[in-house]
Amino acid sequence: MRIEELSIPESVKEVVIKSGITELYPPQEEAIRAGALEGKNLVLASPTASGKTLIAELCALKHILERDGKVLYLTPLRALASEKYDEFRKYTAIRKDSGRRVRTGISTGDYDSSDPWLEKFDIIVTTNEKADSLLRHRSRWVNEISLVVADEVHLLNDTERGPTLEVVLARLIQVNPDAQLLVLSATIKNAEEAAEWLKAISITTEWRPVTLREGVLLHNEGHFKDGGALKIEKTTKDPAMNLALHMVKSGGQTLIFAGTRRNSVSLAKKAAANLKTLVSKPMKRSLTRISEQILSTGERTRISELLADLVSHGTAFHHAGLGGSHRRIIEEAFRGGKIKILTATPTLAFGVNLPARMVIIHEYRRYEPGYGYYPITVLEYKQMAGRAGRPKYDKVGEALLIARTEDERDYLMENYILSKPERIWSKLAVERILRSHVLATIAADFAHTERGIHDFFGKTFYAYQFDPRAIKGVITKILKFLYKEEMIEVSGENVDATRFGRRVSELYIDPVSAVMIRDALLSRAPKLTDISFLHMVARTPDMFPKLRPYSREIDNLALFVDEHQKEFMFDVPDEWMDRIAFEEFLGEAKLAWVLNAWIEETTEDEAIEKFRVQPGDLYRLIATSKWLLYASRELASLFGHKDLLKRVSELMERTEKGVKAELLPLVKLERVGRVRARILYNSGLKTITDLKRARVETLTSLPLIGAKLAKRIKEQVGGFVKAEEWERLKKGETADQRAITEY
Ligand SMILES: Nc1ncnc2c1ncn2[C@@H]1O[C@H](COP(=O)(O)OP(=O)(O)OP(=O)(O)O)[C@@H](O)[C@H]1O
Ligand SMILES: [Mg+2]
Repeated sequence: MRIEELSIPESVKEVVIKSGITELYPPQEEAIRAGALEGKNLVLASPTASGKTLIAELCALKHILERDGKVLYLTPLRALASEKYDEFRKYTAIRKDSGRRVRTGISTGDYDSSDPWLEKFDIIVTTNEKADSLLRHRSRWVNEISLVVADEVHLLNDTERGPTLEVVLARLIQVNPDAQLLVLSATIKNAEEAAEWLKAISITTEWRPVTLREGVLLHNEGHFKDGGALKIEKTTKDPAMNLALHMVKSGGQTLIFAGTRRNSVSLAKKAAANLKTLVSKPMKRSLTRISEQILSTGERTRISELLADLVSHGTAFHHAGLGGSHRRIIEEAFRGGKIKILTATPTLAFGVNLPARMVIIHEYRRYEPGYGYYPITVLEYKQMAGRAGRPKYDKVGEALLIARTEDERDYLMENYILSKPERIWSKLAVERILRSHVLATIAADFAHTERGIHDFFGKTFYAYQFDPRAIKGVITKILKFLYKEEMIEVSGENVDATRFGRRVSELYIDPVSAVMIRDALLSRAPKLTDISFLHMVARTPDMFPKLRPYSREIDNLALFVDEHQKEFMFDVPDEWMDRIAFEEFLGEAKLAWVLNAWIEETTEDEAIEKFRVQPGDLYRLIATSKWLLYASRELASLFGHKDLLKRVSELMERTEKGVKAELLPLVKLERVGRVRARILYNSGLKTITDLKRARVETLTSLPLIGAKLAKRIKEQVGGFVKAEEWERLKKGETADQRAITEY
């Protein structure tokens, strides 16, 4: 079926054809024939790279241009949300009948907001969690949604994030029963069942546009499912590395999935050592530029230095310990063909389009703290393998698992390559996860009687898959808890949220966190310090993942706890009576310690050295703490603790920026972060008034402040720079000052 023939507006056809797509792929054709463009609910389960997004795009534009509709696009990951956002931006060229252009918006942050500004967008891309929070705020525009696209729906199976997606879908169906549902999934065994739950038509295909040759590598010999074999040169001791180098020599790029961060780093180091002779001179120059960009983005740490060095050789690692901006640079360099061998943890396994002609799955076992090693699922394997051979980039892709023995080779062939992905199971009925959804159901007016609540949860995938009675018991228990903690009140048949309950639901925190914070603010620590509040938020169940102290730091942590004994809002568990609780407490104390060091201006590199906390983890810790401190301030205000408001607000700002209180006015300026603010402050420019009075030359004489930034600072504080002065300044600045940094 040709794009030309579709019943979609001509302007949409033009954009699609211009992007290089003229003919539909068979699974796309099947979706169209099943009524995708006529508003039918569909569950489309098809292999990786089979073009599921295009169906969503066509449906979306149909809704917007022909029905004045609005589209919500749900994704499980922020990175994926931004890829989809970029994809949809090509349609801004199109105008609606009203003359206004098609608008795409993205919203993934700040959970305590109804984001009224999203109202003006036709397509809104969000994460599942953000959509959940928007539904809790009952944003008005949610009622206008006429098409819901849910991407990567096999994530319903995920213990942590699956339940949110499930509840979001159930709520959207309740709010907009007439909206069209387009559900995209990897191939799973029970797509049919998911479709029945959603009252949708199920389409399952095995078709992939680019052949993906799956196989196993054993001792430098590849064996493919299609019967093919491959013998590679033994350049190094590691067959996986030899395979990747073989691909580089034939002009392709390789993505290696490692089981741990540490392994991803050591594989990239091995790759660097062997790539030296394989990278051309001009390529080397452009790699050097990317290296420089890495070093000048964010703070310099041993990790960014290592990454920059590896990149200069044409390789890199990609894992959650890297900050977002470094990850984006690496992704872009891989997309641009500059990085030849990229090693990654499964952070890159879902939905992204990358030019990997080959994927190597280095470890099919994953280490889970507390559980030990376990083999990954077939579904996960298929997702990783599916990053190879994407239509935009390659004509064929190869994906290989690594075996050490013949037995293992047969095992991998049988249990991964020849196996079908598993069924997915709802993970909703877990008390810890369900309690916030139960509260939200009442607080955001989705139900007002016990029956109504059971009815709502009776419509979830869980209830569809299992006996609805199984979830009833958990819900009843949660209702009792919410009642006891005064988040809900009951009168006759009616169940309503109290002010406390409503606020907790909006703040998007676990009701147990709210109770902890409420009680801590009331009882207070004998000696209130920053550590008191930082530990308080670190202790809540919303602080996730929890840090486990390394055994070699236990003594130090115990000492820290002892020194700050009077500052904690909670009793320190007895080391001898309850060892587990004591070690948990040490873990929380460690988070408080790291955060406290951060707001005392410890550098990121020192955090790696002293606490073994990598930048990516640090940023996540900061973001979560900021959100929980915000929630604490809101609860302090609700419960009338006027004396704490300023204190907690200031702590929240300091946590966000990583500065002592004296720098707060300076970091409010655009492009001035903790490092530059400290430089300004130490040079005597301590306040906005100081900056207003200062000469531009004074600013540009400081490290890391170039002419452009000096001008920007002056403009922000209400001064201006004369034209001839500006010319003179630009000539005089050093390369160091010109560097683009994020501070
Ligand atoms: N009909 C088509 N003709 C040519 N290219 C297409 C067509 N449809 C989609 N593509 C391209 O195929 C690539 C893969 O599409 P997409 O990302 O939608 O795959 P997917 O099915 O969502 O895979 P995954 O399960 O990995 O997320 C994209 O680069 C897209 O532009
Ligand atoms: Mg996809």
